[in-house]
Amino acid sequence: MTDLELMRLATEARKASYSPYSGFKVGAALLGKSGKVYTGCNVENAAYTPTNCAERTAFFKAVSEGEKEFTAIAIVGGKGEKPADFCAPCGICRQVMAEFCDGDFRILLGNMDNIRVHTLTELLPYSFGKSDVE
Ligand code: THU
Repeated sequence: MTDLELMRLATEARKASYSPYSGFKVGAALLGKSGKVYTGCNVENAAYTPTNCAERTAFFKAVSEGEKEFTAIAIVGGKGEKPADFCAPCGICRQVMAEFCDGDFRILLGNMDNIRVHTLTELLPYSFGKSDVE
């Protein structure tokens, strides 16, 4: 699976975004160590706080299907039809990533024209995790 292929799957997943309140559509494609890809979109709610981000939708799909180790995620977001050049994952999604991923987990941000690659350590330094509570 290439970075561009993962980005294409995230772009495709974004089409299912349920975002009638913000109009901000996000798609994610999460690559498991098994080689399987789990996609997700943001799912909003009239009560606002039950809203789930695209990244967490993908993670929760994967974990609920038995996969708990991952190598990369592609994230595509933006208002309206055209994806922005850069949509960073929110803090809660970064914390969910930290639960299941090592610091070198790759986070691909952008769209089919531009891809920025970061690691989880870059986006969530000094994170709180399993080792703190064990
Ligand atoms: N959103 C995501 O899906 N992922 C992010 O990382 C940032 C924000 C969604 C949540 C909400 O539906 C909309 O974008 C606006 O915040």
